[in-house]
Amino acid sequence: KPALKTLLSPFLVGAAVNQQQVDGSLPQDAALLQQHFNAVTPENMMKWEAIHPAPETYHFAPADALIEFANTHSMAVTGHTLIWHSQAPDWIFENDDGSTVSRTTLLQRMQSHIATVAGRYKNTIKGWDVVNEALNEDGTLRASKWQQIVGDDYIAEAFKMAAQAAPDAELYYNDYNLFAPDKRAGAVRLIKSLQAQGIRIDGIGMQGHYSLTHPALQEVEASIEAFAALGIKVMITELDVSVIPFPGEPEDGAEVSLNVAMDESLNPYPDTLPAAINQQLAARYQDLFAVFRRHQNSLSRITFWGVHDAQSWRNNWPVKGRTDYPLLIDKNRQLKPFATTL
Ligand code: XIL
Repeated sequence: KPALKTLLSPFLVGAAVNQQQVDGSLPQDAALLQQHFNAVTPENMMKWEAIHPAPETYHFAPADALIEFANTHSMAVTGHTLIWHSQAPDWIFENDDGSTVSRTTLLQRMQSHIATVAGRYKNTIKGWDVVNEALNEDGTLRASKWQQIVGDDYIAEAFKMAAQAAPDAELYYNDYNLFAPDKRAGAVRLIKSLQAQGIRIDGIGMQGHYSLTHPALQEVEASIEAFAALGIKVMITELDVSVIPFPGEPEDGAEVSLNVAMDESLNPYPDTLPAAINQQLAARYQDLFAVFRRHQNSLSRITFWGVHDAQSWRNNWPVKGRTDYPLLIDKNRQLKPFATTL
């Protein structure tokens, strides 16, 4: 049986995984991981709210299970993610009386979190998404609580703290819509500024939450080239290709509101994907991989955001409760035949 990690070589081939897929509760998914992938990223297990839900509480068991699984099966682990505005509990930013913490306090909390989490896995995690989604669509820095309380240098501080905690781990910046020219330019500015300050950054992750028509291939390609020119590793992280248009298929960079009310027309293929649409999905994946392969000297890893269609987050984003078909392994856990053509 063909394995994705062979078919898609020389890329490292990753999947986002959840605890049950690596702790023995879902042996069929564990078998798929072993057969097809040589890299894993925790889909949620290492996000701040999951691994550090309360000031004095760290919840390491799920992440430890992932590391053990990955070690047993010789898979590279990407840590995801240290500093992000989302899935970060409110207490991080608040004093006991509910007021907003000072810059100094927030830097201390960052430091302690990064030292504890990245430090614990310093010999077992290959690379960290140190900062996730810090940019606006226009390339400026997002006004997250991190940015508002610490200032623009929270990113530089996070990378310095991560380098200290895990000196041998690679350090990455990760974001979505990095194909879009303004956001691409913002990422280039951010990385050049870190490099100019002598701060180590080893790579950039381009989240690939795509659709059949969006984004344009030339834009993806231009961003891979721009990032590779900075002398860092480029990775396609979080790849999935939705076969369902976004509600009002967006202009470049349009904000998509989450959890739009469910409506029949937004779930066009609830049971099976028509062959003609699967053909479009195949063609889209072929086009994307033609770009990736042209740049295979710059691209080190392609990570899919999920193992198989049945548990992809795209069934719940940008609209909850749809049936989507975004990955290369179908909801019956079978490799899609077109995967052998990529
Ligand atoms: C998503 C997960 O897939 C969902 O299970 C969770 O409910 C929300 O987060 N960008 C990222 C990922 O960097 O961490 C997100 O993962 C998808 C968007």
